[in-house]
Amino acid sequence: MCGITGYIGKNNTALKTVIDGLESLEYRGYDSAGIAYLHNNQLNIVKEKGKIVNLKNKLDITTLSNMAIGHTRWATHGKPSKTNSHPHSVNKFSIVHNGIIENYLELKEELLKANYKLKSETDTEIACAYIDYLYKNEKNILKTLNKASKIFKGSYAFAIICLDDLNHLYALKKTSPLIIAKGKNENYIASDVPAILKYTNKYVLLDDYEIAKIGNDKIEIYDSNLKLINKKLLKFEGSLESSMKCEYESFMLKEIHEESKVFIDTINNYLDTDFKNIPNLTKYKEFHIVACGSAYHAGLVGKYLIENYANIPVNVEIASEYRYKKIFYNKKTLVILISQSGETADTLACLRKAKEEHIDTLSIVNVVGSSIARESKYIMYTKAGCEIAVATTKAYLSQITVLAIITMYLTKNINLNYKNLEKLIEKETNKDYKEIAKKINKSKNIFFIGRGIDYALCMEGALKLKEISYINACAYPAGELKHGTISLIEKDTPIIAISTDEKLLEKTISNIKEVKARGAKVIFITNSDIKSDFYDYLIKIPKTNSLFQSILTIIPLQIIAYEVAKSLGCDIDKPRNLAKSVTVE
Ligand code: AGP
Repeated sequence: MCGITGYIGKNNTALKTVIDGLESLEYRGYDSAGIAYLHNNQLNIVKEKGKIVNLKNKLDITTLSNMAIGHTRWATHGKPSKTNSHPHSVNKFSIVHNGIIENYLELKEELLKANYKLKSETDTEIACAYIDYLYKNEKNILKTLNKASKIFKGSYAFAIICLDDLNHLYALKKTSPLIIAKGKNENYIASDVPAILKYTNKYVLLDDYEIAKIGNDKIEIYDSNLKLINKKLLKFEGSLESSMKCEYESFMLKEIHEESKVFIDTINNYLDTDFKNIPNLTKYKEFHIVACGSAYHAGLVGKYLIENYANIPVNVEIASEYRYKKIFYNKKTLVILISQSGETADTLACLRKAKEEHIDTLSIVNVVGSSIARESKYIMYTKAGCEIAVATTKAYLSQITVLAIITMYLTKNINLNYKNLEKLIEKETNKDYKEIAKKINKSKNIFFIGRGIDYALCMEGALKLKEISYINACAYPAGELKHGTISLIEKDTPIIAISTDEKLLEKTISNIKEVKARGAKVIFITNSDIKSDFYDYLIKIPKTNSLFQSILTIIPLQIIAYEVAKSLGCDIDKPRNLAKSVTVE
């Protein structure tokens, strides 16, 4: 997902502020970076393929400038290259963009007829040229942007400089997130809060089709009818260090170590002597949980909890499939969307699909004020704070905590003993699995097996491992292996087997023996006091209330993935090809 930053202010620190902001957005994943900055009334554009350091090497960061926009590009249209990187500039306009302009070919045809010459392969340059094309007739920046905002189809967040008005930055968005932050004699544009936390924690969230006109000490927001409107100034709850690595070698390690605090912050937000901040969910007779990636895996945990304890049927669906499926809703259906970023395009599309069918929606989201949070009927925030590492850990843990809380709420069972869990989580996050990581880090394939809720955890453990170590990892229901996949087991193939449900323990042990008999190396994760020698390595986790057991089980899986990736020298926080939030489809 691309990153956008912008600065306008009397302190003339545009270059440093914009570059700092881009560096704090690196976690979103990118392949090139660029900046447009004003100096001595001259607009300079510098852009480079690769890391931000390549861009910084081409800049004198101390150059005084009162206005700049910056961008980290995650390529969608056109390969990663200097020409395709942003900012794009056409005549009077320079823009940076996050999103996809779906009708770019139609716009391109019009531009070519108007003799525009395009240099790049990107939809963004077409959008920039089209804005310039409209401006030639409108001769008014706000009117031009308002018109463009309705012509462009797809998703966009733009930061814009126009040479006819060097006292303002402009910004507009549709679906892709964008914040306008308020400083002292300076103001900022950013894709996400970490980019501006060093300078301010006060910001407004731009809504679709709104246009921001940003000066040194004034922010004007216009609605889709170009009426000047007042927007609520929000205050980011988290702290600056929540977006800094501090003494940790990676954000992922830091975020794993934050999990005990995230757990208790999440619990305290919804439980006291009674339940609080929970919408009335008792009127619903079936749930559709819709999400992507790890959020989908959290939904699978929620299914086991809600069905087994609250006796309510739960369908868990992958958002990119659900949005195109025929769905059998009824008025008692509640669609639950789970998303850390609150901006995942497929999940957002499912939210809108449910709303079109007048079905109630609840979102379980981490980023306050994100699109999914704002467009849902009900919202239950996870309390994970800023999650920077692409591979989610603490946000996933907070998601399964919220789902356990929903289960408690539905069963009216507030008296569950979770007081000791914060300490147990902290203890688990400090365990060392380097030795186990070294035993499996040269494997081509690693399999995770479990039954029931443990199978859902296997899916998350497999995703964690493959997304940061690039080792092929698959999760299978333990009973399913012998229906084909067991043919892949050969000498020393690592199998990570999980069993935390007494009722399924014996069956899982039989499945472990089946793979052991074929040469597998078994790492057994369990909360039971089993004494036997059917495994090669044992990871014993504490037994706790079954509603919260998954919260302890997932931690060794996260740490093993971390240690394997680290032993292979992989980029822990920014794995190749991945972005923190997938706002494109
Ligand atoms: C998980 O480690 C990945 N970062 C990815 O699967 C992620 O969970 C998925 O893209 C969904 O993102 P969201 O929670 O922001 O919607």
